[in-house]
Amino acid sequence: MAARKADLPWGVLEPREAVLNMAPYSPPTGGRAGKLRLDFNENTVGASPRVIEFLKQRLTGERLAIYPEYGAVKAALARYFEVEEDDFILTNGTDEAIQVLINTYVDDRQQVIVLHPSYAMYRFYAEVAGAPVSEIAYRAEKLAFPLEELLDAITPETRAVLISNPNNPTGTGTSRANLERILQKAGHAAVLVDEAYYEFCGVTMLPLLNDYPNLFVSRTFSKAFGMASMRVGCLFSQSGNVEFLHKAQSPYSVNTLAAMAAAVAVEDKAYVERFVTEVLAARELLYVGLERLGIPYYPSQANFVLFQAGGRAVEIRDRLRSRGVLVRDRSYEIPGCVRVTVGTRDQMDRFLKELEEIWKA
Ligand SMILES: Cc1ncc(COP(=O)(O)O)c(C=O)c1O
Repeated sequence: MAARKADLPWGVLEPREAVLNMAPYSPPTGGRAGKLRLDFNENTVGASPRVIEFLKQRLTGERLAIYPEYGAVKAALARYFEVEEDDFILTNGTDEAIQVLINTYVDDRQQVIVLHPSYAMYRFYAEVAGAPVSEIAYRAEKLAFPLEELLDAITPETRAVLISNPNNPTGTGTSRANLERILQKAGHAAVLVDEAYYEFCGVTMLPLLNDYPNLFVSRTFSKAFGMASMRVGCLFSQSGNVEFLHKAQSPYSVNTLAAMAAAVAVEDKAYVERFVTEVLAARELLYVGLERLGIPYYPSQANFVLFQAGGRAVEIRDRLRSRGVLVRDRSYEIPGCVRVTVGTRDQMDRFLKELEEIWKA
């Protein structure tokens, strides 16, 4: 019998070493419905009414009985994203996109580079795969994108580079030209540009898919489109790569409802555009409110803003929660910082009013 590597309770089967060594991940807290949800960068008013109508009225028993068929949905999404149908896979949210990318390109003990702080799932899936993760820190000043530091860290051993643009939780982004320098330096590695917040900033690498064979782009329906519960996204690359992504993906990981809802959502382009316009106006209002209170913040290219609460980050989060307003404490990774999702101007008015009362108390 093989020696046990860990002190596990009696009767527990020893997992792979990579899983044994991982820090446990704590999923979001429950009980968020009905509160002012400014903690997960979701759409704060919900999906297009057309999507809701579709889900309520147009579902048939037969549709539910049949395994998913993605043809029509892929055609609709290809038109919307202005790519070919062979240039992407549908994924169960961005999370599955990251997982499929890692499963396709990264073996046990091959290096993955991520930035810090950034979206936690990059490290999560790399660690599950047994890949050592190198972290490059965002610059202390203005939390700017650490281009030179990242370029220096890329070596012939690098297998994947995972970047969120704009980045969560810093809100800072980088240019297409900078990302091209990374694609060139990491020509032998898979480079993922996660564009979860694209709608709020307008910078995209999608038109460059065929210029860089190592470029992968992900998009999601969880943020601007207001469909986080449906778990649907897309992973794009040139079609030769997409064939391999398909091979590494479970065939039905996106359910029929989610896939069809995504196709309906892109038909209502005006709905998302209106929401984005509202968020951008609300973000200005938020900046003005924070300035009035003398609270420093980091200007953002996304639908969330990090502000400096000094030693009061956890207290502010807890006291806002007791008033029905949810925000995220990020002080464990950026000292003193709280992240607030930007919703509508009315929602930001309410947030600022509650914050002001707590701040001045
Ligand atoms: C950068 C980034 N990518 C992806 C996601 C999650 O996307 P999905 O819901 O599509 O898995 C988030 C959510 O917070 C995020 O911040």
